[in-house]
Amino acid sequence: MTTSSATAVAHPNIAFIKYWGNRDNELRLPMNGSISMNLKGLSTRTRVTFDSSFPTDIFDLNSKRQTGSSLDRVVKHLNFIRGLRGISTHAHVFSENDFPTSAGIASSASAFAALTLATVAALGLDIPEANLSRLARRGSGSACRSVPSGFTEWRKGHSDLDSFAVTIADPSYWSLTDCIAIVEENQKKVGSTEGHATAYTSPLQAARVADSDRRLDICRNAILKKDFQALAEIVELDTNMMHAVMMTSNPPLLYWQPITLEIMTSVSAWRKTGLPAAYTLDAGANVHVLCEAEKAEIIQRRLSSLPGVKQVIISNVGGAAHLL
Ligand code: PMV
Repeated sequence: MTTSSATAVAHPNIAFIKYWGNRDNELRLPMNGSISMNLKGLSTRTRVTFDSSFPTDIFDLNSKRQTGSSLDRVVKHLNFIRGLRGISTHAHVFSENDFPTSAGIASSASAFAALTLATVAALGLDIPEANLSRLARRGSGSACRSVPSGFTEWRKGHSDLDSFAVTIADPSYWSLTDCIAIVEENQKKVGSTEGHATAYTSPLQAARVADSDRRLDICRNAILKKDFQALAEIVELDTNMMHAVMMTSNPPLLYWQPITLEIMTSVSAWRKTGLPAAYTLDAGANVHVLCEAEKAEIIQRRLSSLPGVKQVIISNVGGAAHLL
């Protein structure tokens, strides 16, 4: 019997310029590049143990044995990385989020970044960061952005070989904060893998994609210049464009609740009256409110006072996926 094991930690990320729609669903090659920040306050810790005596792969998430599509997705990713080593040894994957999975925060980015790093290390492979990011991309597109540190940009690339994320600024560069207003605790109804697959059915997707390099330039420059006003405007435009595509896809995807819209309009109004804040949403009803660190307390207080906001989670800029 041979055993090898490794443990990795990764943070989820919140996209400022969104990834929505693939040009190749199997390779998860995106239609457009994206920019995000890693979320320091939240993490996934994953231990992968390969043992030649295991009859099958096992996946435990938050101490619950997984079956069905949750297990299948992990096994598919293990198979992909095992294939690189030319082995078929089964593994036990033990994964825990330090944030409630029920909080409606997308965990696939941190999950596949941590799973990729732990699997690669347990197999004794020594892989540079860009290639780790490429491998993580195959599990979940946004996971490629959780591999490098801080503010990261996923360049869409020309092929599998050059589609990966890189750091554009370290966590200490700018103390941006994400105040996450949790309004819905259930898992999202339609997951992003399914959503990416129907993005092309929206007549608005082509326009969103055609304008994406311009938005990426504005966002990258706003981060590098620490220009919050410019960042706020482009982040809100980009999330509105993604949700416009979602709403006009076939079948339509409408993730907002009434409270979602109330937070969005409140945040825009706060900014106009001198409190710099910006909203952005993933494929769900929860609202991520970005601000500079010194404004986080007042924003948390204001968000918490809105009826329908269940809790507000605060997160600063996080580092890279790493081994323990
Ligand atoms: O990586 P996925 O397949 O979970 O897609 C992420 C999609 C969004 O969260 C909506 C946008 C993004 O860029 O993170």
